[in-house]
Amino acid sequence: MTVPVGILATGQNFGERLVTNHDLEAIVDTTDDWIVQRTGIRQRYWVEEGTGASDLAVPALMAALDEAGLTPDDLDAIIVTTVTPDTMFPATACRIQQKIGAANCYGFDLSAACSGFIYGVTVGAGLMSDPAMRYVAVVGVDVMSTIIDKTDRATCVLFGDGAGVAILGRVEPGYGVLDSYHRINGQGGDDLIMPAGGSKLPTSAATVAARQHYVHQNGGEVFKHAIEGMADACRAVLNRNDLTPEDIDLVVPHQANVRIINGAAQRLQIPLERVAINIENHGNTTSATIPSALHQARQAGRVKDGDKLILTSFGAGYTYGSVLMQWGGALNGRA
Ligand code: UT7
Repeated sequence: MTVPVGILATGQNFGERLVTNHDLEAIVDTTDDWIVQRTGIRQRYWVEEGTGASDLAVPALMAALDEAGLTPDDLDAIIVTTVTPDTMFPATACRIQQKIGAANCYGFDLSAACSGFIYGVTVGAGLMSDPAMRYVAVVGVDVMSTIIDKTDRATCVLFGDGAGVAILGRVEPGYGVLDSYHRINGQGGDDLIMPAGGSKLPTSAATVAARQHYVHQNGGEVFKHAIEGMADACRAVLNRNDLTPEDIDLVVPHQANVRIINGAAQRLQIPLERVAINIENHGNTTSATIPSALHQARQAGRVKDGDKLILTSFGAGYTYGSVLMQWGGALNGRA
C-alpha cells in the first residue's frame, strides 16, 4: 500500500428480533445442545419482515460516521458488501446513499459472501490511491434470514442478520492497511450456494417449489476448507511482512463456526485470548461478522493504537483472504 489508509471508525446494527436456540427447537428438529456443541452459537437476531439490507445498514453507517466526526456529505464512496441486497439491482449502495443523503459520493455492491468485508477494505483502500478520495465507507450487511430455508435444520440455525461498517480514511505512515492477501477458488462454487434467482437459473414456480431460492450448503466440505483457507491467508501476510504470530495483537476472523475459528487459531498457534469471537450472540451474519466483531472488540477495549490486527475470512465462492493492519494513526482531517 503506497497511501496509508486505515479504519477511522466502526459501527454495527442487528435485526430487532432475538432468536434463541430454544426458539429454533420449536420450528425444526434440533436442540440447543447440538447447536452450541457443533457451532458455538447460542442466539442470533433476525429482522422483522420487510426490513432490507439498506434498512439494517443505515444505523450502523450513521453511528460510524458519528464516531469519525463526519457527515454523509463527507463520503466519497460507499462500498456495500452483501449477498442479500435489497434487490438484484439497483445496487444497495444507491439505496443507502439516498437514505443518508450523501450528496458527493459514488458507490457499488461487492459480492464476495463472507469475505465481502475484507475485500471491501482492500478495494476501498485501493480507491483511495486517488488523492481526491478522502473517506470511503465499507458496509458489510446481510439479511440471511430472508434466504435461509426455515425447514432445513442444517442451515437455518447458523445464520443471523447484521450490519457492520468501517469508515476508511488516511492515516500516518506505518499505520492502517499494511498488506492484503486475497484468493478465490471457484472449485468450491457449489458447496455454498443459492442456486436460483440468477441468470443461470431464473426464479420460476419450479425453482421455488424445489426450494432453490434458499441457501444450500455442503457443510463438511466448507468446514475443512475454511480452516485451511483462513490459516493459509494469515500465514501469507505474516510471512510477507516478516512477522510471527506473536507479533499479532488481535485476529478478527469470520464467524461461521467456533470450531473453525479454534481450528484456524490452533494452526496459526495464536491463543484464543488474541482472537475476537462474537458468534455466540449473533451467529453467522456473513458480511457483517468481521466489522461487528471488530467493533465489539474495540468497545471492550481490546484494540489499542499501535496494535497489529489481522482480519481474515473464508466464504462461498470460495472466497478467502486476510488483511494485516496497524490500528490508529488517524490524521483527523489533516489529509
Ligand atoms: O460462512 C460461510 C462458511 N460457512 C461455514 O464455514 C460453515 C461450515 N460448516 C459447518 O460449520 C458445519 O459443517 C455445520 C455446523 C454446518 C455442520 O456441522 P457438522 O459437525 O459438520 O455436522 P454434519 O453436517 O456432519 O451433521 C452431523 C449430524 C447429521 O446427522 P446424522 O446424519 O449423523 O444422523 C445431521 O443431520 O447432525 C445432524 N444435524 C443436526 N442435528 C441437530 C445437522 N444439523 C443439525 C441441527 N440439529 N441443527
